[in-house]
Amino acid sequence: MAAGVFCMCGIVGIVGSNAVAERLVDALKRLEYRGYDSAGVATIHNGAMDRRRAEGKLFNLEKRLDAEPLPGNTGIAHTRWATHGVPNVTNAHPHFVDGVAVVHNGIIENFSELRDELTAEGAVFTTQTDTEVVAHLMAKYLREGVEPRAAMLRMLNRVSGAYALVVMLKSDPGTLMAARSGPPLAIGYGRGEMFLGSDAIALSPFTNEIAYLVDGDWAIVTRDGAEILDYAGNPVERPRQISQTTAYVVDKGNHRHFMEKEIYEQPEVISHALSHYVDFASNTVGDNAAAIDFKSVSGLAISACGTAYLAGLVGKYWFERYARLPVEIDVASEFRYREMPLSPSQAALFISQSGETADTLASLRYCKDNGLKIGAVVNVKESTIARESDAIFPIMAGPEIGVASTKAFTCQLAVLASLALGAGKARGTITPEQEKQMVRHLAEMPRIMSRVLNLIEPQMESLSRELSKCRDVLYLGRGTSFPLAMEGALKLKEISYIHAEGYAAGELKHGPIALIDENMPVIVIAPYDRFFEKTVSNMQEVAARGGRIIFITDEAGAAASKLPTMATIVLPNVDEIIAPMIFSLPIQLLAYHTAVFMGTDVDQPRNLAKSVTVE
Ligand code: M6R
Repeated sequence: MAAGVFCMCGIVGIVGSNAVAERLVDALKRLEYRGYDSAGVATIHNGAMDRRRAEGKLFNLEKRLDAEPLPGNTGIAHTRWATHGVPNVTNAHPHFVDGVAVVHNGIIENFSELRDELTAEGAVFTTQTDTEVVAHLMAKYLREGVEPRAAMLRMLNRVSGAYALVVMLKSDPGTLMAARSGPPLAIGYGRGEMFLGSDAIALSPFTNEIAYLVDGDWAIVTRDGAEILDYAGNPVERPRQISQTTAYVVDKGNHRHFMEKEIYEQPEVISHALSHYVDFASNTVGDNAAAIDFKSVSGLAISACGTAYLAGLVGKYWFERYARLPVEIDVASEFRYREMPLSPSQAALFISQSGETADTLASLRYCKDNGLKIGAVVNVKESTIARESDAIFPIMAGPEIGVASTKAFTCQLAVLASLALGAGKARGTITPEQEKQMVRHLAEMPRIMSRVLNLIEPQMESLSRELSKCRDVLYLGRGTSFPLAMEGALKLKEISYIHAEGYAAGELKHGPIALIDENMPVIVIAPYDRFFEKTVSNMQEVAARGGRIIFITDEAGAAASKLPTMATIVLPNVDEIIAPMIFSLPIQLLAYHTAVFMGTDVDQPRNLAKSVTVE
């Protein structure tokens, strides 16, 4: 991949019948999960093209627009997540070159060589972005007298990499041209108006009639409709569908942050998710958990990123234990390049809240090319990962706005638990009685979650004051608590910026124990399960070296351990099938309160974005 500034970004365009700037910003608000380093909007009015751009979050752009409104019925807009270079106004999109305006999501991989070529021909680059080459190429071809469509096609055949692009020309105020090679791009059909956006949610206030471009499509969009073509210039048909996405109200309710709201929503959304997969009347796993024929598959490959990967890792323990199904799991950024031998007799599961994560999508395509049956455990049912899968397993968490994933994680776990039990049932590795018993435990989970949230909140809040003074924190766990330890560490570092690591408790003595001293809190996650005694031995090793222990356990565990701790968080005794979801709550609250105490931007932590559409 080329070096330079590139973005992961949200883009939107409107060819309207009245002023568009405000609506473009409204659409950007729904895309801010894709990045918030800078934002910009450009319109055409009375034959002139103009733009407003601002560093940082969207409200800065809104302030710019309040001070200097932008008239015009055609426009494009962008919210940016930069991976290289300074996220300043100069690098903010839209980029202008000689009457050409461009917004871009993705990476132009050959931008460096194109930039050298164009500079040698006299082009003057004013930004550090890869995107600017697109505007320069278009401007060059137009100057040479190439008509706009042909210029677009020529430009598309010169650039390589991953991109969703929208191009606006001063010379043609009633038209936008768009292209997709990688990141998603949707066309929205309105009445006498047309829309373009990175997803259907962005366009949801304007229209629910959507067609998705597929890779290698480009489109010419006017007020009256869209012409979709391939890169050879041949027309192609893409079905219009009615999007189920609603223009949800982005509202924190009584909560200070979306993350807090989403933590407290978990009992309700988990209940919703579970009822899609299990029948609480008969206490059995239903058909929705059988959209993949687990009985006939020889193994499962799971791939995902970040928190979704950690949910997959818990899932591995479940599929192997309850369904005796071997699971190959890796983070998607490694999975996609490992060239692992796969067989069409295996199935593959991809877990993603957004359904747009670039590495996860690439892993999916690798498995698809190898003939595997593909299942998607996603929150956004209309996402690219969902659309490219054979079976969709929705997690039904509702919109998750906080960058730190909370309710999506526990809903992913609830769905994976249901699928593992469904697989066990299909493969005959759990008895009908065991199925009933475990579904009963799943059914109890929302109620227990509500109780736990109320029970531990004050303790988590006061403990977070201690944690906020630390530079480093270690999390330990065994079995399904090992992925939870990693999830706890990920949550803490992502929103409080405190360095944290999650380890398998048994690995402590193979290196990390050297870090233990009186300044290093060690958070031990240990329900009273078959690993409990072993984990307590590891805790003993920490205590013997002066380490301060925060012990997250249940009533039975608290009664069984006599070790002195800095704090013990006591949860109710629960069955091990639901323990990972219940034990997620203290680690989420601890990270949340620590971040609040430290005054960080909890919902939009620095350098991050909700949806990661670059590799
Ligand atoms: O949308 P996805 O679930 O594919 O996103 C994967 C990760 O980027 C995501 O889980 C990330 O690690 C979270 N910010 C963690 O809280």
